[in-house]
Amino acid sequence: MDAIFNAIQISAKRIKKAIDVKDIGYSQQENSSGETQLELDIQCDMIIEEELSKIDSVHTVSSEEKEHAVKLHEDGKYFISYDPLDGSSLVDVNLSVGSIFGIYKGDFGSQNLVAACYVVYGPRVEMVFAHNKVKLYLLQAGDFEFVKEIRLGEKGKLMAPGGTQQNWEKYHKAMIDGFFAEGYRLRYSGGMVPDLHQILLKGGGLFSYPATSDKPEGKLRRLFEVFPFAFVYEKAGGEAIDGKQRVLDLGHANLHDTSPCFFGSHYEVQRVKEVYSNNA
Ligand code: AHG
Ligand code: MN
Ligand code: MN
Repeated sequence: MDAIFNAIQISAKRIKKAIDVKDIGYSQQENSSGETQLELDIQCDMIIEEELSKIDSVHTVSSEEKEHAVKLHEDGKYFISYDPLDGSSLVDVNLSVGSIFGIYKGDFGSQNLVAACYVVYGPRVEMVFAHNKVKLYLLQAGDFEFVKEIRLGEKGKLMAPGGTQQNWEKYHKAMIDGFFAEGYRLRYSGGMVPDLHQILLKGGGLFSYPATSDKPEGKLRRLFEVFPFAFVYEKAGGEAIDGKQRVLDLGHANLHDTSPCFFGSHYEVQRVKEVYSNNA
C-alpha cells in the first residue's frame, strides 16, 4: 500500500505540472460516458497508468477515460480505479479540479474497497488518503506533508446540490429547499472533488447528485467517483447513500456504471433517507 500511495503522490505532482502548462484543447475522442475528452484528460490518464505500472502489487487498473480495464501485473493483488482529472472542464475557468482513486483487493467492487484517495488541485495541492483513518496531506516544497486527521461532525452547514434543477423530482427539490430554509449555505463549484473536500474540512453538510428525469441513474460513476468518496466519507465518520441504501452495498455490472449519490454527515443523510423512503 505504501508503494501505491507513493505512486499516487508522484502522479499528482506530474498532473499539477500538466495543468499548469497544458493548453486545454479538446481531443477528437470520446470517453465511455460519451464525453469528448480534453487533451489534458488523456495526458493525466497516461501519467497515472505509467506510475501505477511501476508497482508490482497492482494487478489491474481501470480509468474513467479508458473503455476497458488494463492488466498490469498478473501476481499483483490490488485493482485500482481512477478518475484522472475530475472536473477537467473547469480548468479553463481556473476553478479547482481533482484526481480520484479507489483501491480494491482481489477485484473491482464496492465490497473489495480497501483504501481510497483523492487529490485537489486548487490554490494549493492537497491529498486525502483514507485507509484505516482519513488523513490530509499538503504539497509543500515538492513533498506531501501530513497535516491532520479528518473527522466529520454530526451535522454541518453546507449544501452542494448537483444535477439540473429543472429535472429534479419534486420531493428532492422540497428537501433541498427545506435545508436552505433551515439555514444551510450553498457551496457548489461543479467539481465534486473540491465540493466534497470543502464539506469534509468544514465539518459536514450534504453533497447530492440525485437521479433526475434526464439522468435516472445519476451522472457520477460508481467505480471512479462514487465508491472512493463513499469510502472516504464513511471512514471520516459520515455516510454515503444512493437515496435508500449504502453506496458501498451497491454492485456494478459495467466499469462505467453510474449511481445517484448523497454524501454527508449523519443529520443530513438521515433526512435524505426519510424523504427518499417516503417518495422514491
Ligand atoms: P468529469 O469532469 O470527470 O467528467 O466529472 C465532473 C463531475 C463532478 O465533478 C461534478 O460534481 C459533476 O460532474 C457535475 O456535473 P454537471 O455538469 O451535470 O453539473
Ligand atoms: Mn469525474
Ligand atoms: Mn474525469
